[in-house]
Amino acid sequence: MEFKNLKLTEKDDILYVTISRPEAMNALNTRFFQEMDEVVANLATKENLKVMVITGEGKAFVAGADIAEMVDMNSEEGTKFSILGQNTFRSLEKLEIPVIAAINGYALGGGLELAMACDFRFASTKARFGQPEVNLGLIPGYAGTQRLSRLVGLADALYILLTSDMISADDALRIGLVQKVVEPDELMDEVTKVAKIIASKGPNAIKKVKAVVRKGIETDFITGSKLESEQFGSLFGNEGEEGMRAFLEKRKPNW
Ligand code: HXC
Repeated sequence: MEFKNLKLTEKDDILYVTISRPEAMNALNTRFFQEMDEVVANLATKENLKVMVITGEGKAFVAGADIAEMVDMNSEEGTKFSILGQNTFRSLEKLEIPVIAAINGYALGGGLELAMACDFRFASTKARFGQPEVNLGLIPGYAGTQRLSRLVGLADALYILLTSDMISADDALRIGLVQKVVEPDELMDEVTKVAKIIASKGPNAIKKVKAVVRKGIETDFITGSKLESEQFGSLFGNEGEEGMRAFLEKRKPNW
């Protein structure tokens, strides 16, 4: 598929996906979801890739779902457009390798929902965050009502959802919506630095941490702990053995 909304670069086992429709603040349309599905299904699963990074071109990370595409939809089409995006964002959560959001500017509505489906978020001081759907007489449709309260707690989520307040990067950091805030020209370097740290670890351990944490948060403590034991055990005799031997032999592991 020829990409119209996404630009891809691969460097040092990291896949960078740049959302590139700056003239429309990178608003998410049907074509975007088709392209992202293709990336997740066929490109991000390549053996050598260790981390995926998502960012936006221009002033916005993503300023929401494409209002021009949505305006003439009927109720059934609206539901379908919601499910389309929910499925794509769910596939990002389920992707084996970690996904980091590098939030360069506005992350609004569907844009914040996309960022929240990533495993963690770094932001530029220029980033702004919000769920302004109620301004439009709408509510979030890409599971923002579900992810926001899980990430920041009930009261901060409801404040953001009910007021449409556009919060700063520092406020996003304060409530735990992002993990680090840096100057705009340092954003990609900082994200690359953390991506490289992750890429240097045991690759199966990284995938299993993500899977166990993500499955665990959707289940009960006992079930999650059982899954942890199974996955812990599965690393013995292979990658875990190499990591532990390397430590004891005072050398770098050869994954
Ligand atoms: C379509 C959009 C857009 C969007 C911006 N544009 N956001 N087009 N969908 N979500 C377009 C504008 O229409 C404009 O096009 C161009 O991008 C530049 O935007 P401006 O408004 O002129 O820029 P600026 O004054 O800098 O303001 C930036 C902004 C503002 C604060 C980000 O554009 C804004 O508030 N955008 C809408 C944010 C929003 O409501 N998002 C939630 C959408 S609903 P022209 O052609 O005039 O140059 C949603 C639901 C998700 O996300 C769930 C769906 C199932």
